Amino acid sequence: MEQTDPTVLISEADIQARVVELAEQISQDYADREQLVLVGVLKGSFIFLADLSRRMTIPRVIEFIAVSSYGSGSQSSGAVRLVMDVRGNIENRHVLIVEDIVDTGHTLNYLIGMLESHKPASVKTCALVRKAERAEVDVDVDYLGFDIPDKWVVGYGLDYAEQNRTLPYIGTITPTD
Ligand code: IMP
Ligand code: MG
Repeated sequence: MEQTDPTVLISEADIQARVVELAEQISQDYADREQLVLVGVLKGSFIFLADLSRRMTIPRVIEFIAVSSYGSGSQSSGAVRLVMDVRGNIENRHVLIVEDIVDTGHTLNYLIGMLESHKPASVKTCALVRKAERAEVDVDVDYLGFDIPDKWVVGYGLDYAEQNRTLPYIGTITPTD
């Protein structure tokens, strides 16, 4: 299969600058609360979570959750499925879900409900990018990096069929399926 490089949509410098701003905002908002639980959604959020969490200045711990809603390419398989739950106890704790991308919103909507069933003190959401045009459910993104057009994006954690996750920028590709 012929591979062409993704076209840059958000540069490495722009991502890093926005991550600093988000980390500062979150650190201010949670300054007077108990330790924050950052819940990264695997796999796509792993790089964003790593950078974001290292720029924060408040007490924080990391948890991961895994869901699957897509097949190997860009076609949705429909329902969201929980593959791995958080390990730590989040009851009465402040939780911030960290996602790579909000597309239709089904995944984030499902995760909010799922985590709320653990009776946390609060649940808020942070996503690096959002395809606003694609929204099918109305879900609040409390901390958003960038709104992007309806194109398939890769890099900075995001993949197409497991490829291109470790690019330092976010780029667009044309899915072949
Ligand atoms: P949603 O449930 O439709 O909001 O989809 C969210 C999930 O779809 C994300 O966590 C990604 O795993 C995947 N996804 C949606 N659009 C893209 C994209 O452009 N690139 C990579 N993954 C995507
Ligand atoms: Mg994801």
